[in-house]
Amino acid sequence: MKTIIEPFRIKSVEPIRMTSHAERERYIRDAHYNLFNLHSSAVLIDLLTDSGTSAMSSEQWAAIQRGDESYAGSESYYKFYRAVSEIMPFKHIIPTHQGRAAEKILFAVIGGRGKKIPNNTHFDTTRANVEFTGAEAVDLLIEEGKNPREIHPFKGNMDINKLDNFIRKEKPENIPCVMLTITNNSGGGQPVSMQNIREVSAVCREFKLPFIIDACRFAENAYFIKKREPGYENKSVKEITREMFAYADGCTMSAKKDALVNIGGYLCLNSDEWALQARNLLILTEGFPTYGGLAGRDLEAIAVGLEEVLHEDYLQYRLRSTEYLGEKINARGVPIVLPVGGHAVYIDAKQMLPHIPVSQFPGQSLAVALYLAGGIRGCEIGSVMFGASAKMELVRLAIPRRVYTQSHIDYVIEVILDVYEKRDTLKGMKITWEPPALRHFTAHFNFV
Ligand SMILES: Cc1ncc(COP(=O)(O)O)c(C=O)c1O
Repeated sequence: MKTIIEPFRIKSVEPIRMTSHAERERYIRDAHYNLFNLHSSAVLIDLLTDSGTSAMSSEQWAAIQRGDESYAGSESYYKFYRAVSEIMPFKHIIPTHQGRAAEKILFAVIGGRGKKIPNNTHFDTTRANVEFTGAEAVDLLIEEGKNPREIHPFKGNMDINKLDNFIRKEKPENIPCVMLTITNNSGGGQPVSMQNIREVSAVCREFKLPFIIDACRFAENAYFIKKREPGYENKSVKEITREMFAYADGCTMSAKKDALVNIGGYLCLNSDEWALQARNLLILTEGFPTYGGLAGRDLEAIAVGLEEVLHEDYLQYRLRSTEYLGEKINARGVPIVLPVGGHAVYIDAKQMLPHIPVSQFPGQSLAVALYLAGGIRGCEIGSVMFGASAKMELVRLAIPRRVYTQSHIDYVIEVILDVYEKRDTLKGMKITWEPPALRHFTAHFNFV
């Protein structure tokens, strides 16, 4: 059959509260036109993020009941350890409360003034944690990855020549590790090929540098490899995943993505020396090494999620439903980042709203219009978020895992197309108040 269905039945439901246009006008005005300020009960379809918003399975909820809450040596930790090492076979596996806590600990150990850390594209929290130690975060993405309309199967790839030149110029002793983010969230959720992972690893071996993967969306990346990279079509996603991590010396992980849970993360390392220092820091900020900021029940849910996320019918549904949304709106003229990545569709607001100058935040205007028209909450990724250094004016519609059905997505398509039809009537926005840092979370806006 050609129809790809959601590979699950729904056992427990959470009502969506319907709202009228007039109500939404009031809610968004009271929120100062900042979607982060809305109560979630005022949102019909919440596409703000795919992080920590997954629906858990009946097996995960059952595992939660078996959580061993012992302070030390919890059986839940050993289940978690076995589940992680089955697909990410590193020597040390250190739980943390989420991905950025793993980053914070890693860079506290290996960062510092004068150090430089290359990546395809650092995610914001990764960059912030690198820079907090005084080190410099450097992005070395291939050129194709920077152009929203360029079609390339692996737009998340690292530029190997640039990496090689960078290491020679900056000297290996100033580079504590090389990172690779799979998939590349800040670059549109684009995947990295196995060939690129292998090449990054080879460069690291040549210069004797540790290679660390930011593994948040590892399963989505592995499925893209299966579908797009010659030689992998007949391998299982688990085999592909094991191969990806076999080239690395460690990884940071936000379990809030591809471990299908609402909270959690971990740091994996092969180095005994780094792991010793990381565990010492872990005890200061997260907790004892067999729970690291999580409850035993959280570790149980991660263990089950890591097994479920590799099911190929799930991954097929996951990537296809994201692609379906992008395909349908793009076919009617809505400009988006192409090809569609794994976890989100990015609308190019600058191209869609040429009458709104960048100084009047076209992404914010579009995000507000989608909320007013249909209660959809997306996220501006442009000049509001990055200020003058923004390279694009995008609205990201991130799809939570296993949460929405095809009719929800069809509704989202209808709302986007409705806004697209009346795009000429959308107005620019201005900031009426902003905090000193990270303004996108709390700034106040109004129409110009
Ligand atoms: C690529 C990437 N790395 C790191 C993180 C940080 O993870 P967390 O939100 O669990 O701290 C995220 C979260 O969105 C991410 O997408």
